[in-house]
Amino acid sequence: MNQTMKPLRFGHLSIWPPFVAAPIAGYTDSVYREILREFGCPYCYTEMVSAKGLALGGEATTALLEHSEHDRPLAVQLFGSDPGDMFKAVQKIHESGIGFDAVDINMGCPAKKITSQGAGGGLLKDISRAAAIVRAVKSATGLPVSVKIRTGWSDSDNAVEIALRLEAAGADMLAVHGRTVAQGYGGEADWDVISRIAESLSIPVVGNGDVVSPWQGLKRLRESGCSGIMIGKGILGHPFFFRNLHEVLQGVEPKLPDCGERFDVAIDHLERAAHRYGERRAMLELKKHLAFYFKGIKGASKLRVAMNSASSWAELVSAVRHASSWYDSQQAE
Ligand SMILES: Cc1cc2nc3c(=O)[nH]c(=O)nc-3n(C[C@H](O)[C@H](O)[C@H](O)COP(=O)(O)O)c2cc1C
Repeated sequence: MNQTMKPLRFGHLSIWPPFVAAPIAGYTDSVYREILREFGCPYCYTEMVSAKGLALGGEATTALLEHSEHDRPLAVQLFGSDPGDMFKAVQKIHESGIGFDAVDINMGCPAKKITSQGAGGGLLKDISRAAAIVRAVKSATGLPVSVKIRTGWSDSDNAVEIALRLEAAGADMLAVHGRTVAQGYGGEADWDVISRIAESLSIPVVGNGDVVSPWQGLKRLRESGCSGIMIGKGILGHPFFFRNLHEVLQGVEPKLPDCGERFDVAIDHLERAAHRYGERRAMLELKKHLAFYFKGIKGASKLRVAMNSASSWAELVSAVRHASSWYDSQQAE
């Protein structure tokens, strides 16, 4: 199955298997990325980081850059609308001494507060500015520069042209989420447009949208002409994706997570988050993750209610541990 599959190569990077974890603000923080790595994820991005915020030295923004040495190779993802801000932000990153393996530019975020500044997906309406941003970032770093785009602002008519302009501006890799900005997260990703972009560019194209299993990802990889696949929602509460992908590639029966394993990993995630952020913030951060870990299991809605009504860290941990022992007792019967 994987005889024709090659590593995803750009700049000095060679990523195997050619599957990457998507940047997901509020979820793929350094804590969750570490868990993804332990399950075999070969490439991650930071959550999106404001170029302006970095240039101004904002504490919360700068904290988004932190990561462990195991969390490599790692791209830092920047958003902004001004080439000068983007240049300064990359300089700041280099001055900080925090190591990254690539710089990625967000040209897909559909949030109004981002697009209204002309950043994120807003850049797809002003492709000359988007190209100037790629050139500015390229001139600020020796690292490979990638761009994450959608297929257009309100339609996909110019998708290939946009991609070619970014390639001409110096992008080393393009990740394409197969929806327009106007679509937000609704509807289905259009893999035909992704394929057309992949066929038209000389740089590697990573396809993104609606891939939730290794089998589906491998099929997309074979059929789309992409050099890699990016997984977003399919890895939320499901770091097991990457273990299963490696198992499928090795030709061994994938070990799908049972309830016990989901609880174990979720509890481990809780503990790491408390260690990193302190209990109060970890409680707020983790409730949304936990809903994904337990999606689809029997009694999940009851557990969700118990988790959401927890008003302290101790209550949250106790709700999860209580549910975990209940599941254990069910198994034993
Ligand atoms: C809550 C949420 C936050 C996201 N944050 C980012 C982000 O910071 N940067 C980015 O480029 N994309 C972001 N995305 C988009 C994802 O990276 C991905 O492109 C999208 O979810 C489609 O892939 P999927 O169908 O595999 O989930 C976000 C998506 C969601 C749902």
